[in-house]
Amino acid sequence: MAVERTLSMIKPDAVAKNYIGEIYSRFEANDLCIIAAKMAHLTKEQAEEFYAVHKERPFYSMLVEFMISGPVMITVLEGEDAISKYRTLMGATMPEFAAPGSIRYDLARDGRAANENAVHGSDAPETAAEEIKFFFKPEEICERTR
Ligand code: RTP
Ligand code: MG
Repeated sequence: MAVERTLSMIKPDAVAKNYIGEIYSRFEANDLCIIAAKMAHLTKEQAEEFYAVHKERPFYSMLVEFMISGPVMITVLEGEDAISKYRTLMGATMPEFAAPGSIRYDLARDGRAANENAVHGSDAPETAAEEIKFFFKPEEICERTR
């Protein structure tokens, strides 16, 4: 295992339900350190570019509309095995198939639509690096010096 960085986004459904603190508590309880954070209301162009990998998929326009329906909380997490550790904490994409105790199972099963699944997380080292760069300048990332 190695120390990794990953990008987390608390999606508009979970921000609207006031779950930012609940989700941040789960990061901290699992030894994931927040090293950068910002709230933003994404533009349509930002959401389209961020999820461009899905642009041919039937759910793309719904996904973009959902992601710009309210503000999101964007966070860089650092820790041992952070990428896969956070994906496990998130749970499966569709909340009803997510493991009990995961963020998506606990906080998103009551969503208005299947894609309203509370959180985003990078899925590999390359995408993590790209996604962190998409939202944060190097000087906005705070190395933990203590
Ligand atoms: P994310 O990228 O947001 O962390 O989610 P993920 O890896 O678990 O899932 P992915 O396949 O990358 O899909 C991105 C987001 O698109 C929405 N989605 N809707 N209606 C559908 O069939 C469908 N499939 C995916 C979800 O919001 C999903 O998180
Ligand atoms: Mg994904």
